[in-house]
Amino acid sequence: MARRPFVVGNWKMNLGPGEADTLAIALKRALWDRQAVDVSVAPPYLSIPEVVNRLRATGIGVAAQNCHGQPAGAFTGEVSAPMVRAAGCTQVLIGHSERRQYFGETDESVNLKIRAALDADLEPIVCVGEALFVREAGKAVAVVEQQLEGALSGLGSEALERCTLAYEPVWAIGTGRTASPEQAEDMHRAIRTWLSGRFPKAAVGALRILYGGSVTPANAALLLAQPDIDGALVGGASLKIETFLPIVEAATTRS
Ligand code: 13P
Repeated sequence: MARRPFVVGNWKMNLGPGEADTLAIALKRALWDRQAVDVSVAPPYLSIPEVVNRLRATGIGVAAQNCHGQPAGAFTGEVSAPMVRAAGCTQVLIGHSERRQYFGETDESVNLKIRAALDADLEPIVCVGEALFVREAGKAVAVVEQQLEGALSGLGSEALERCTLAYEPVWAIGTGRTASPEQAEDMHRAIRTWLSGRFPKAAVGALRILYGGSVTPANAALLLAQPDIDGALVGGASLKIETFLPIVEAATTRS
């Protein structure tokens, strides 16, 4: 099944409104007529309005990096999915390993956030991935399956059809140590196999699974050449147009 490649730049806690606008201008110039690949960027909340404005009608999507699991209420410092949607985002990252590691997110909260995102008409980009000690203990697939089980609990195929998954091994994030194309492909295939036991074939076949973790212009083409790697979730290399564009290019060539 042909899945359209998808490259997402996760800017994390970088690029305030001014800097974000500068990068958005460069992205618009470089990518406005790109047909063969979907591209989105995930700026920090406060930079979302500038980026949404700048990228309007370019086809480049804007995602938030997180949202709360409730639509509104007394949750000081939080941002809800309907607010993210109202700000012009169409997607939201959910369950990024940095959220799990530093902000106590669990499979249960990830499940709630996916539901909140879908209710607000946002496409969730759901992140899973194992820590180094888990991989070294030979339990990577089991742990990722457990994360999927929790994240997707109670959700049907209509929900899955609106999601993208991202496999981001924690040991490869921001470390310069990327998973080999074989390691990444093995996990992506395992994820698809696991999903096949629970969701209809068509929904699983159409689902895009992105790889994230030290993706760079140097390793993108080989990763993206794998049959079950449908795109990339890029951190550090998405902060500069010179390093992000070649990754988008690699995804375009793949298609
Ligand atoms: P790096 O590309 O900087 O390793 O970050 C990956 C990531 O966490 C994207 O969400």
